[in-house]
Amino acid sequence: MRNKLLIMPIIIKNGTIVNADNTFNSDIIIENGKIIKITNNIQAGAKDKLIDAKNKIIFPGAIDPHVHMHLPVFSGYSADDFYTGSIAALYGGTTTIIDFVTPQKGERLSTALKKRKKEAEKSLVNYSFHVSPVEWRDTLPQEIVEIIKQGCTSFKVYMAYKQSIGLDDDDLYKVMQTVAKTGALLTVHAELGDEIENLRNNFSKTGKTTAKYHPLSRPDYTEALAVKKVLQFAEETGCPLYIVHVSAKKSLKYIREAQKKGQKVFAETCPHYLLLDDSRYTTGFDHAAPFVLSPPLRKKEDNDALWEAIADETILTMGTDHCPFSVEMKRKGINDFRYIPNGAGGIEHRLELLYTYGVLQNKISINKFVDIITTQPAKIFGLYPQKGIIKEGADADIVLWNTEKEKTISVKNHHQNCDNNIYEGIYTKGAPEQVIINGKLILNKGEINTRFLGKFVKRYLK
Ligand code: URP
Ligand code: ZN
Ligand code: ZN
Repeated sequence: MRNKLLIMPIIIKNGTIVNADNTFNSDIIIENGKIIKITNNIQAGAKDKLIDAKNKIIFPGAIDPHVHMHLPVFSGYSADDFYTGSIAALYGGTTTIIDFVTPQKGERLSTALKKRKKEAEKSLVNYSFHVSPVEWRDTLPQEIVEIIKQGCTSFKVYMAYKQSIGLDDDDLYKVMQTVAKTGALLTVHAELGDEIENLRNNFSKTGKTTAKYHPLSRPDYTEALAVKKVLQFAEETGCPLYIVHVSAKKSLKYIREAQKKGQKVFAETCPHYLLLDDSRYTTGFDHAAPFVLSPPLRKKEDNDALWEAIADETILTMGTDHCPFSVEMKRKGINDFRYIPNGAGGIEHRLELLYTYGVLQNKISINKFVDIITTQPAKIFGLYPQKGIIKEGADADIVLWNTEKEKTISVKNHHQNCDNNIYEGIYTKGAPEQVIINGKLILNKGEINTRFLGKFVKRYLK
């Protein structure tokens, strides 16, 4: 029965529409999953569902370009699967996620994509994937082309985690040459894997095993020098690059230089790198472990530098890197920080945090907010103009935002499937009142409609 129910047209009246490049008042008609009309004074018929958007702002459904649902790690899985994680996404105003396909060594990319699509079928929000080559092999060029034909036009490489999924420099270079030839985009986790491994092992060998050694084993230069290296490779190979979760002020210098030279390089940061800092690691294990994520939290001056990079458009997007782990999972590393699973949740909080600490603190305009949370991810990852904009003909993925709703983030009121939250105690103002996905009202004043599932969205090369 799911997805086959009769859907009434939706009419949204009296709202203010905010796109990345304009703000205007108009009514909206939604039918068959699309925005079919944007005009004033629409009269709702008896068969229409009417939503009054008075005092609300209306913007395109948010796209989170960096999430990990049901991520396998050495000791189990991250806490949210595609169902629970998509519920948290919905409560935060996110209507599309881009997760990852991480094949086993030797497994064809398309086999791994097929499996991951199956896992994602229970998602209530729309979804796509970045696909990871975790090793070089001669069939990879052909496999990459196959993946693009199947609608995934971005790939992901890890310069860290070399024991499992990370690539050494030779393989990274070959992957970059290959992706460059296809016109696809390569996303990269930039940290110097070997240097970090040495630091981690040295700390551990000398009995420095508490969580505070996590950030000390991944200092800012290990990110900045990885960024520098991968930008050099990108210049030589002509590979377009998207650097995920930029955390360090030092990295920004290299990104700016490359952008100035005309290299096609995009940078993403995450809410935790803007709002939290490394003082979180100095408390006891259960307080510090939730903040063990990679790259680690940095200093206040890094937070400030990242806000500046958003303002000057060095950074165009913000992903959450959503990857929560329960306290029990985090405790796998109670005797050695190297065994604490890396990651934290945030998918529910991306918009409310950026709205509260960006828009309401006059760091960014409301249009820039929309640009960051949806228009840029849509443009960069081949979803625009179907998504990322409210206009006639676009997909009806829409958020009606209550600008007045206040809250304090807590495990007591969050929706991610996890018993800790790195934003615990943080105040927010602004929240989604209604969320429409594929033309259906899925979140309405705190109630979720679970009868409709999200869709795999095919992306296209530009
Ligand atoms: O600590 C993190 N970020 N965990 C998720 C995997 C990754 O590196 O993005
Ligand atoms: Zn990463
Ligand atoms: Zn990640």
